[in-house]
Amino acid sequence: MTRTSLRTLDCEDEGAVGAVSMDEGSAGLARRVAFDRIRYANCWEDSALLVETLCPAKGRRILSIASAGDNSLHLLSHGAEVVAADLNLTQLACLELRVVAVQRLDDDGALAFLGFERASDRLAVYSVLRDGLSESARGFWDANPRLITEGVIHGGKFENYFRLFRSFLLPLVHSRRTRDALLQPRDREERERFYQQTWDNRRWRWLFRLFFSRFMMGRLGRDPGFFRYVEGTVADRIFLRARDALTQLETHSNPYLRYILTGQFTGAMPDWTRPAVLAGIRRHADRLQLFHGGIEAAAARLGGEGFDGFNLSDIFEYMDEGSATRLYGQLLEHARPGARLAYWNMLVPRGCPACFLDRVTPLNDWAERLFTRDRAFFYSAFRLDEVGSGDAAGQVHEEERTHAG
Ligand SMILES: C[S@@+](CC[C@H](N)C(=O)[O-])C[C@H]1O[C@@H](n2cnc3c(N)ncnc32)[C@H](O)[C@@H]1O
Repeated sequence: MTRTSLRTLDCEDEGAVGAVSMDEGSAGLARRVAFDRIRYANCWEDSALLVETLCPAKGRRILSIASAGDNSLHLLSHGAEVVAADLNLTQLACLELRVVAVQRLDDDGALAFLGFERASDRLAVYSVLRDGLSESARGFWDANPRLITEGVIHGGKFENYFRLFRSFLLPLVHSRRTRDALLQPRDREERERFYQQTWDNRRWRWLFRLFFSRFMMGRLGRDPGFFRYVEGTVADRIFLRARDALTQLETHSNPYLRYILTGQFTGAMPDWTRPAVLAGIRRHADRLQLFHGGIEAAAARLGGEGFDGFNLSDIFEYMDEGSATRLYGQLLEHARPGARLAYWNMLVPRGCPACFLDRVTPLNDWAERLFTRDRAFFYSAFRLDEVGSGDAAGQVHEEERTHAG
């Protein structure tokens, strides 16, 4: 049984530059949003895109937004050194619990404990795991036994939002039979037919827009502070993305869709729970570092020789354009040549700021192609930028990607 104890570096720790380097970007968000509870008990971004673009092999260093930990762990499993940062300490507690469970239990045991399968003895299992956690994570989980009993992957505010959608709204729109039918394997043509003829009725359109309105999402799903820079109708954009996910992509193997519709991942498990990934996490757990604070503080504090890849979730859309530009520049200071920055837009368009285009090449064609395969359908764009020597280098990469398909 492995007995490593994870330590979370805090931006307030003595000597940490984080406390002083948190400027408008992360600090502004930290002031507006309450970070005292789990917001995301799973990562709601498709890690396949990160693994493909950030090439997380041994010898490479990646700075990653932690969230619930899934995507940072998927990157870690390939052997890269990963620094996982989050403003919200409870998110780091989620990540830590995953790591310790995977290290100390076998695959089935870890997945059952976390909530992927049924289990009746989670508190007993937790009592065996808790001494592997940092003090802050242990304190959080000790104070929240109900989250453990129910399975921690179900304990986020966002997951609760989906529970309300699934329990109260969806049954008004479609019968159980129709919902199950949506998750049956079909080819694209059949999916389109099913969507048009069976799924996309007037009630679906109306209630979907209502539930995914900024008002409802702000109160029940995301924190309203996360919507501050959103312009236009949130629900319309999410509706179009959902339509694509239900027709252009396989529905039966999509873990994000499966969870939203059924409240479980059974039958379509997230990538990070695959046996090979779990084995990689066990093998490389000592290459993971956690940081509590803004991502720019993590970069400054734990940047070392720099990073080859950045998983930035959709953090740029939670701040105004000037702050996003400043944050982007701060991260670039810790980027190695050829480093890639991967991030999403949900509701606010944010790309590489114009002032950095002499140092950074947006790999737009490749990113757009990958986006068509993105199984998490809440986003309006996937962005991929490469630190390089300007347009010529970028062009070569674009051509290589085109030929690689
Ligand atoms: C950016 S949120 C997005 C989750 C999901 N994609 C969504 O759109 O609802 C994911 C995580 O990023 C963290 N976060 C947001 N901005 C951050 C920042 N500037 N530095 C560190 N963590 C940040 C949040 O605490 C949260 O746990």
